Amino acid sequence: MLSPAGSPAKLLELGAEKSPEDETCRVIVGDVLEVARTLTYDEIAGTVSCVYVDPPYASQADYVHEARLDGGADGRLTRTLAYEDSWSHESYLDMLAPRLEALVHLLSPRGTIWVQVDWRASHFVRLLLDEILGPQRFLNEIVWKRAPNLGRQAASSQFGRTLDTIIVYGKKEAKLSPPTRLERIDEKAIRWDDQGRPNTLAPRGDYTDLSVARLEKEGRIHRTATGKVYIKYFLVKDDEGHWCRERRVDALWTDVAPLRHAKLGERTGYPTQKPRALLERVIQASTQPGDLVVDLFSGSGTTADAARALGRRSIVGDRSPVAIANARARLLRSGASPSIEACEGCALPENDAQATVTRVSERRVRIELHAPSEPLAWTVGPLEESALRRVWHTERIPGAQAVAAERAIEIDHDPKSTLGIRAYEDDGNVATIEIASRDLPARGRSAAFSSMRQPDRNRGKNK
Ligand SMILES: C[S@@+](CC[C@H](N)C(=O)[O-])C[C@H]1O[C@@H](n2cnc3c(N)ncnc32)[C@H](O)[C@@H]1O
Repeated sequence: MLSPAGSPAKLLELGAEKSPEDETCRVIVGDVLEVARTLTYDEIAGTVSCVYVDPPYASQADYVHEARLDGGADGRLTRTLAYEDSWSHESYLDMLAPRLEALVHLLSPRGTIWVQVDWRASHFVRLLLDEILGPQRFLNEIVWKRAPNLGRQAASSQFGRTLDTIIVYGKKEAKLSPPTRLERIDEKAIRWDDQGRPNTLAPRGDYTDLSVARLEKEGRIHRTATGKVYIKYFLVKDDEGHWCRERRVDALWTDVAPLRHAKLGERTGYPTQKPRALLERVIQASTQPGDLVVDLFSGSGTTADAARALGRRSIVGDRSPVAIANARARLLRSGASPSIEACEGCALPENDAQATVTRVSERRVRIELHAPSEPLAWTVGPLEESALRRVWHTERIPGAQAVAAERAIEIDHDPKSTLGIRAYEDDGNVATIEIASRDLPARGRSAAFSSMRQPDRNRGKNK
């Protein structure tokens, strides 16, 4: 178990960005071990309903984030190394074992841990979780078909490796609630009972006599002339008006489409991003609204995005600044209001930013960002105890026609407080311009500011 001994990681206020509304979505920069230890000291340990992680798979590859800067499919691209995934067997186990242990430590007595990997690591994860939680805590090995069997896979001398494995273990009181899905029924197989209800029949299978008696009361038993028992499944219509049978989802997931079939706006360009629908299924099966979901290998923030859509709280983390910058931008685009924090020693890399601030009136300023020239996102608000309270933000919008972040904004600003301007770049660099109230330009005047230099009041000019 994670030992509480040693120095706890403190969440640094410096560089933090506060959500103006609530604390339902936290994004933390840092290694899983540091973040998990921090959460333990934050008294989160023992309260988490679902930990989902999609760690590196030991694929021996480098993963590059790709973002379209603006315009259509042939528009300009920027590429940045997001993370490296090269390991020996030994070093991979050394990395994963303590991190899984630290994550398990966060679970509530009903909590479950879901670990998504592929053929390269699934055997390690089973062994590690058997060791950490005990083999009796194994719940499922889910197979997700993530790609069609095409190209090199199909032509190889093996069966195509077109699937990921999601290994699920739970604490003592854990129970999953698998959802149902609609399966279309061939018109010819539809029967209508004497009350005019459409249904299909299936053999009684392993239903006990007691269950058959219960189903009989519900009008769901059909007996043939020879006395054979069949179960009636009543049908419902799907959105397109086809008759369907509701089926409980099993551990073979072939109905969650790969990310490339998702809407363009969902694709962040982060390598190895998973579809939101996959995470929605995981979260729905293992949590209730308001529960806490944690993913500390969170990449582009899919888990937090799905948790928000389903009314769950989330804490996500990653040690890659590229991942953090993209997750932050994505969550803000989708209407979440994440707070951004960093473990000690894990602050995001800094870069220069330059902006012109014009004092429009006593309590109103216009801000024009000059550098970075094509930010992934930037935000403005008062700096309080070194943390920026976001009051306005803009992000580049991906999609069929990527739209660049806005370049200028006019906002209300209390002249007694320090004004903060923070810009995020695709490579994970962050720059913060800090403008103390004494440095704000006089009414009707402008001044240039930089994150690296002191304000240059001589460059102020009349507007
Ligand atoms: C497979 S990706 C996760 C993708 C994510 N599920 C998504 O939908 O975007 C794995 C992530 O783990 C992060 N990572 C690797 N080692 C880490 C560590 N020790 N601590 C924190 N994050 C780590 C990488 O930076 C990468 O973003």
